[in-house]
Amino acid sequence: MNNILSEVEAERSTEAGSRGRILIVDDEQLIASTLHEFLVDEGFDAAIAGDARSALEIAAKFEPDLVLCDVQLPGIDGLELLDRLLPARPDTLVLMITAYATVENAVAAFQRGAQDYLMKPVIFDELLAKIDRLLGMRRLMRENQALRRQTHMAVGPATLVGGSPAMASIKSLIAKVGPTRSNVLITGESGTGKELVARALHALCPEPESPFLAINCAAIPNDLLENQLFGHVRGAFTGADRDHVGLFVAAGRGTVFLDEIGELPLATQAKLLRAIEMKEVLPVGAVRTIPIKARIVAATNRDLAAAVAVDRYRADLYYRLNVVTIELPPLRDRVEDIPELVEVLLNRHVRELGKRVTGVDNATIRMLMNAPWKGNVRELDNALERAVILAEGPILTPLDFPALERIDLDGGESDRDDLRSAMRLHELRHIRRVLADCGDDKRDAARRLGLGLSSLYRKLEELNIKI
Ligand SMILES: Nc1ncnc2c1ncn2[C@@H]1O[C@H](COP(=O)(O)OP(=O)(O)OP(=O)(O)O)[C@@H](O)[C@H]1O
Ligand SMILES: [Mg+2]
Repeated sequence: MNNILSEVEAERSTEAGSRGRILIVDDEQLIASTLHEFLVDEGFDAAIAGDARSALEIAAKFEPDLVLCDVQLPGIDGLELLDRLLPARPDTLVLMITAYATVENAVAAFQRGAQDYLMKPVIFDELLAKIDRLLGMRRLMRENQALRRQTHMAVGPATLVGGSPAMASIKSLIAKVGPTRSNVLITGESGTGKELVARALHALCPEPESPFLAINCAAIPNDLLENQLFGHVRGAFTGADRDHVGLFVAAGRGTVFLDEIGELPLATQAKLLRAIEMKEVLPVGAVRTIPIKARIVAATNRDLAAAVAVDRYRADLYYRLNVVTIELPPLRDRVEDIPELVEVLLNRHVRELGKRVTGVDNATIRMLMNAPWKGNVRELDNALERAVILAEGPILTPLDFPALERIDLDGGESDRDDLRSAMRLHELRHIRRVLADCGDDKRDAARRLGLGLSSLYRKLEELNIKI
């Protein structure tokens, strides 16, 4: 009686107007072929599998949008089929078909990731309504995601700003490596743009619509980290009341971004190495591994090679992650990028904050180019945001960056309260404002300040004002 139709019965309609791909999993051949005929008539591409094993094989090739699945199947039942199918294809929709006696199974099916169920005998109108609702829901979710991505991109965080030789060679490296699926290690101080580079790589990958999933290895306790990365099965530990798909599986053919990879404990390093080498993960508590396809992009602000040298980092893992390295230089080593960064970042804050700020004056650009920027682009970005919020006029001046002025004043960070420092600060601000007012014309500035030109030069040197 269990007629197994293991070959794909797909009639992939070649017309562009297919309403979606549906895989019918039912061992009763008559029901399966009636459903198949109905769905094809309604404009779907449909395929039939007579048991769970062939359903898994067919799903891998047919890539159904929706699986119409009988609960009772010979051998592996419908519920177990979900357990095997969904980890590998998490966004597949599932509509269970169940006989009255197995309603509680339908509840179990929801817990395992099915979206809806139908009672036997199947009423075609009801089936169609449910399929339309599910596919419609998924379309909406995808559109929403696309919209979010678009607005994200419109604001510009995915565009790397900077034309310095260092940035130019980084951009060309990204253009070369992005479309491959090689693992990439991104190094650089905090705030240099490591995550931005990771996203730029993902945007160029063969399937940019696939997920980009980021995890900060330093911010999560170790056991939780393994859970997040590899997933767990129901009952793996107290409180694990359902299966949890790990990031590597959930990312599909997308990217897993492992931030602060230098902080990974040795035990987790071993598991990660295994996952990369075998291209599979073993969820916590599971007995079966799941294949993984995701690309791994890792980032660190530590010197991993040095950690390897003192045995705090596994050399084999380091070489696996480090197929290609992208080294981001600190901002102070590419100050020529600062004017463009200021323009782009400032515009973004002005738009977001709705302030009428149109730019910065020359003295400010010079000051920004001379600042140490220990926090790199992120610190520059924060300083600009604060300046835009506090700005009184349309053009930002050094006065709008009080924290930097102090650094400028004594060539180091200081918050001395003594009178001499306070007077020097006042003098510095005043001279800067006058200079800005006369468009950096020193002769004019000296006249307005009531100083001789050489006295002004002496002051500029003393106060470390560079023009
Ligand atoms: N070249 C750049 N062009 C435009 N924006 C940049 C650039 N580099 C960095 N940024 C911006 O600076 C901020 C910090 O970047 P990002 O988060 O990528 O740094 P990071 O290296 O990952 O830092 P951390 O090590 O602290 O996590 C972000 O807002 C990012 O958009
Ligand atoms: Mg980061």
